[in-house]
Amino acid sequence: MKNYNVAIIGATGMVGQRFATLLENHPWFTVTALAASARSAGKTYEEAVGNRWLMSTPMPEKMKNIVVQDATADIENITSSVDFVFCAVDMKKDEIKALEEAYAKHECPVMSNNSANRFTDDVPMIVPEINPEHIEVIAAQKKRLGTKRGFISVKSNCSIQSYVPALEPLRKFGITKVLACTYQAISGAGKTFETWPEMVDNLIPFISGEEEKSEKEPLKVWGTVEDGKIVSAKAPLITTQCLRVPVSDGHFAAVFASFENKPSKEEIIEIWRNYQGEPQKLGLPSAPKQFLNYFEEENYPQAKLHRNLEGGMAVSIGRLREDSQFDYKFVSLSHNTLRGAAGGAIEMAELYAAKGYFD
Ligand SMILES: NC(=O)c1ccc[n+]([C@@H]2O[C@H](COP(=O)([O-])OP(=O)(O)OC[C@H]3O[C@@H](n4cnc5c(N)ncnc54)[C@H](OP(=O)(O)O)[C@@H]3O)[C@@H](O)[C@H]2O)c1
Repeated sequence: MKNYNVAIIGATGMVGQRFATLLENHPWFTVTALAASARSAGKTYEEAVGNRWLMSTPMPEKMKNIVVQDATADIENITSSVDFVFCAVDMKKDEIKALEEAYAKHECPVMSNNSANRFTDDVPMIVPEINPEHIEVIAAQKKRLGTKRGFISVKSNCSIQSYVPALEPLRKFGITKVLACTYQAISGAGKTFETWPEMVDNLIPFISGEEEKSEKEPLKVWGTVEDGKIVSAKAPLITTQCLRVPVSDGHFAAVFASFENKPSKEEIIEIWRNYQGEPQKLGLPSAPKQFLNYFEEENYPQAKLHRNLEGGMAVSIGRLREDSQFDYKFVSLSHNTLRGAAGGAIEMAELYAAKGYFD
């Protein structure tokens, strides 16, 4: 595989730092440019981040002296020096939309962790193991933007990655309704216990906008490409409650589901164990060998024990059993900042690279 030069837009933030860490030794992608707000521009990465470094491993040595550019003012310079960008910025939605479109219109593909374009109907929201075929909508998006190689692709919210992967291979049984309660880690709010001490020994039953995203986004991921647009699926009916819990990393979901044709418990477990998505078939560098992992132990999976399975890219499932109101219930876990954020975006970029979209 060819090597591609990339920029991280929002490099000083929590997701940006995770990108920097994960890309340090990436076999296909080399970070050659970093950008953030005007507050950071002109400083080296090390100076711009200062005491805000939140990762457990040190800042990559080779990025420390890269001079951070202004994501907006230096767009010409950035887009002319890289093959594509990762973007994770904390700005208003309309500003993010404008920024991402500006990069695409400068003929620079954008792999976005932001939510601003998740419901633009010609922008695919990719979970590489689930809907790689949505990439075909890019042709229509390029037509709208008037670009040859520039486009935007987004990844989904982190919460849905704890339960949608487990449901995906069961769709052939006709999932009619889903109830999912998510128990979400504090890193999903960009926080640690040091920066959010109120979360120690606490639970907050509200995460702004999360239930709407958790109910709506799966239907786009399960949608179909029709006339240059992604049309969201009509089923299943999904209802959620999203809670913030005192866990550093790892989003859990307690899931209930009913089917048109109810499969047996053994059938479901076998389907999970045998599931292979396109990243596994293509052997993408960030793809876990075993995407869905079912544990028989009744107290598994656990956030602390299983969130880092296969570099935090695998999904762990347990406690599948029949339910009195729905057909089945189970629990599942995914790492919210790895599979759920930067790792998922890197795997998405690998999919585009493997299909020649950055050439
Ligand atoms: N699952 C997911 O995909 C997922 C998970 C978590 C977060 N996110 C999204 O990722 C984005 C970043 O989250 P975060 O937690 O990393 O936020 P964060 O820690 O607050 O970092 C924000 C970043 O945005 C930059 N920024 C702020 N204003 C800017 C401007 N006007 N122009 C250019 N850059 C600007 C900041 O640069 P300075 O340091 O210069 O201010 C910083 O690099 C958000 O949109 C968030 O919703 C997605």
